[in-house]
Amino acid sequence: MKLVVIGGQWGDEGKGKAVDFLAEKAELVLRYSGGANAGHTVVVEGQTYKFHLVPSGVLNPGKTVILGIGMVVDLATLFEELAQLEQAGIPWQGRVLLSDRAHVVLPRYKEMDQHRDRARPRPLGTTGRGIGITYALKAFREGVRVVDLFEEGTWNALEPADRAFLQPYLERVRAMMTDVSALVHEKRGGNLLLEGAQGALLDLDLGTYPFVSSGISCAAGAAVGAGIGPQEIDRVIGVFKAYSTRVGNGPFPSRFTVERDGDLEEKVRGIGKEYGVTTGRPRRCGYLDLPALRYACRSNGIGSLLITKMDVYDGMPELKICTSYQLDGRRTEAFPASAEALERAEPVLETVPGWTRAVKGCQRFTELPREARDYIRRVEDYCGVPVEVISTGPNRSETIVRKDPWTPS
Ligand code: IMP
Repeated sequence: MKLVVIGGQWGDEGKGKAVDFLAEKAELVLRYSGGANAGHTVVVEGQTYKFHLVPSGVLNPGKTVILGIGMVVDLATLFEELAQLEQAGIPWQGRVLLSDRAHVVLPRYKEMDQHRDRARPRPLGTTGRGIGITYALKAFREGVRVVDLFEEGTWNALEPADRAFLQPYLERVRAMMTDVSALVHEKRGGNLLLEGAQGALLDLDLGTYPFVSSGISCAAGAAVGAGIGPQEIDRVIGVFKAYSTRVGNGPFPSRFTVERDGDLEEKVRGIGKEYGVTTGRPRRCGYLDLPALRYACRSNGIGSLLITKMDVYDGMPELKICTSYQLDGRRTEAFPASAEALERAEPVLETVPGWTRAVKGCQRFTELPREARDYIRRVEDYCGVPVEVISTGPNRSETIVRKDPWTPS
């Protein structure tokens, strides 16, 4: 089977944990988009691991993990992460592979990225990791791919400073370099987990353009990233938080406001540890936005949802959910294509009972407080997609599986 895991919101939905959990039954785990702009946190047996590039499935012993075709890779960050794995006693040699078609982020791109974003009339608030520049040069046909490092002509055409940066990594990269499409084809009998980065609403085409990242973070990107046809994908799983967050700039209609919600943003940020893994920036926080989530489900073919961080709402007697927008004098459930329109959209909020008994620690769906089950059902009804997995805490063991996503339908 081939499963895609994507974020259903603006990134940081808890995909790292979801992937780590789903990777147990996968033979291969492949990340298909983005670069070191992502930050995935996984907690295993009390130990916290943070990844930017290496697929989160790496913590499952013996799994082969692949940095796929659609990725943009900063080799310095990659080898730092691999060194950290080694220090933690996790062997990676021979099982962390890198697509020969992935693009390489050169150090000067980071400066260009930061400078360009500062110069924008409305900065996007990029992570400054050179991601947009690398993808732009790729589209401009001036990018540097992994395979190009081993061809005399393309190597010699690089600037001396770039070659000096790349040289120390060459032999290690050569050992990891793989024709991903051929490998995935060869292993077609086994389970393949396709790991997205960022989120549906940060996708270059489907997201809140221009306040998006520049990779194909939508589910369709998984086929490109693995070098397979779209019909080979069996299921798309959307990971979403019980609330919403956004880091960097861009419209966010359901954001908590002090006038309406008091100190709720601070509270949720504190309990949910809502600070960027890559930049440390505080994330903006808000209510769950159902029109946005339903749009993400539809435009990505999400057939199964996985909810995370319900425990952050533990103990709150009352909650709100955004169920539509008031936009230009009318009420709509449609998710606008224009970022300006989304800026103007006022959230229409429905008040629902919160759960005063803790979700954290619950082992079964029936053990969850009734209000938490109702909250989940509200999402299912609105989006028309079942919530099949519930994460009740950061640890691998804190997961309720209503239906195993690997079960063939
Ligand atoms: P870039 O990807 O660094 O170009 O940043 C573009 C936008 O995407 C900025 O608003 C970033 O904060 C956001 N972004 C990029 N990667 C992530 C992520 O993994 N999680 C959340 N936001 C992200």
